[in-house]
Amino acid sequence: MRQKSTTMASSIAAHRLHMSGKSNLVKYLRKVDSFFHRGVGTTAVPAHADIPTKDETTGEKDGRLSFYAVQVQRQEQAERSVLINCPHKTSEKKILKFLSSHGDINKCFTYESYGMHAVVEFASQDSVSSLLDGAGIPSNNHESMVPYKSRLMTLRGLTEVTNQQSSKLSHPQTTIPINELIQRLSQEESIDQQIISLTEAYQLTEENSRLRFLVCSLLKDIAAAYFPECSIKPFGSSVNGFGKLGCDLDMFLDLDGISGRNLKMPKSGLTLEYQMKRATSERGVTQSILTVIGECVDQFGPGCVGVQKILNARCPLVRFAHQPSGFQCDLTANNRVAMKSSELLYLYGQLDPRVRHLVFTVRCWARAHGVTSSIPGAWITNFSLTVMVLFFLQGRQPSIIPTLDHLRDLAGPADKSVIEGNDCTFVCDFDRIQLQNNTETLEKLLCEFFEFYATFAFSKKSINIRKGKEQNKPEVAPLHIQNPFETALNVSKNVNGTQLERFVALCQESAWLLQQSDNTVPKGGRTPTPWGLATLLLPLQVAGVKSRKKRKREPASERIKGLLESLKNKNQPKS
Ligand code: GTP
Ligand code: MG
Repeated sequence: MRQKSTTMASSIAAHRLHMSGKSNLVKYLRKVDSFFHRGVGTTAVPAHADIPTKDETTGEKDGRLSFYAVQVQRQEQAERSVLINCPHKTSEKKILKFLSSHGDINKCFTYESYGMHAVVEFASQDSVSSLLDGAGIPSNNHESMVPYKSRLMTLRGLTEVTNQQSSKLSHPQTTIPINELIQRLSQEESIDQQIISLTEAYQLTEENSRLRFLVCSLLKDIAAAYFPECSIKPFGSSVNGFGKLGCDLDMFLDLDGISGRNLKMPKSGLTLEYQMKRATSERGVTQSILTVIGECVDQFGPGCVGVQKILNARCPLVRFAHQPSGFQCDLTANNRVAMKSSELLYLYGQLDPRVRHLVFTVRCWARAHGVTSSIPGAWITNFSLTVMVLFFLQGRQPSIIPTLDHLRDLAGPADKSVIEGNDCTFVCDFDRIQLQNNTETLEKLLCEFFEFYATFAFSKKSINIRKGKEQNKPEVAPLHIQNPFETALNVSKNVNGTQLERFVALCQESAWLLQQSDNTVPKGGRTPTPWGLATLLLPLQVAGVKSRKKRKREPASERIKGLLESLKNKNQPKS
């Protein structure tokens, strides 16, 4: 059902794109984008969808909500939600009937991760209290239980249903395999439509986004044992608009309410203040907070396994797997600059739909070729790649998105933000940002992105989204991407020469593939043959820059045929 509706939307989209011409491209893409964003339930939608309509108080402009408004609404939904492990293939109807005795239910969906789970959002928080009051304690004669009650529960007493109906409603929380994606893209009618289709297949769904906020809320309950006023907020790709199903869940333990940072000093008179223990450094405080919270999560957190405290990293964190959601979690504290980076990326993604489409495509392409990896190392990170896409879009003529310096100049007094001495100020109000009239297609942009980085002077120049222009490199690292807010730092410091060379060679190869005229139109035939973007996701045999000229003489169709053969062989079942 989900696939059908989205595929249909895609083909309508492709048809209209063809009919309307490029001058309406931006307007049109925004429509397609909001079509996908606004779908509820069965359609893939990103983090900010399914949120109440225009409301001045939430900062909604032109159908777009501010980053802060999205966070507040999602957190509030999560507080009214519970996560329930159910017997396999339980009927959703039965769950709803049983739980609705505690109050009205706004939303319920199921998914599979270590068994079937249901996320249930009540209309009122009282219903959650009533549910918790009525729940029993697990009885087990062999093991001792940690007496910690949470909103992660188990439903007992219902029998499994034998028909397949219930599992069909289950919402997938991971992306489709790359080979399936390649096949799906091969059926599209234009490269632009392939790029849109890729975003649609990979972006976070409404359900996945709710689950992310719910996991933060469950963890907040644990941390609240020490810090009752704390909140735990997701950041990074879970909320910046560029998250792919299955991406990690980066969380930030926010203690700003009790840190004294936002304290207003009384003018005069008697006052009382809390006595607080003093520590030698802020980093030391962060480390001790994460030590105790990490210990709590490890010892008492239901469903939290493999807890590692990585406290000596530049940004100390607690890493663990949350089994009931399937999320790999990174919990940090005092990481407000990263939160601001997420807000900035979200803003850029909302300014023009082409930003998200291009970032999704480049991230997927990079992962398919091992340019990025989930294992830390000398690879380019997704964050760096995203900044590279933004930088490229700033440099188009006319530019597609403004520079960070321009966004700072547009900021009002309420936008002012200085974190640890770093100026993190930029405008949040979409209405104050005037975009230039650039109508380039996604196909053109993707091809030009590869060309741009295939020839970029990495040895001398630094990528800088603050200025929107390359700057002279202040250090010798192979790749220098200035941190947008901590401007003395290089976000790609970890990248070595070999990885950068691979990236450049792949950009050359991919630009070349996209320029082959027989690769820019669907191939037709009974079984769709990969073409356009689909061929870019097939393994490219990049042997280095030098061998490129030699390959150039070979007709594209022959090369693509070769690539397809290698994919087919890879897919053959092993005897
Ligand atoms: P995924 O690979 O999908 O997880 O993307 P991500 O954007 O969530 O990246 P990651 O989990 O590595 O980092 C989470 C967030 O931390 C990013 O979105 C940035 O806001 C921030 N971040 C990551 N790497 C750096 C870095 O090198 N420097 C700084 N200042 N911030 C970073
Ligand atoms: Mg992440």
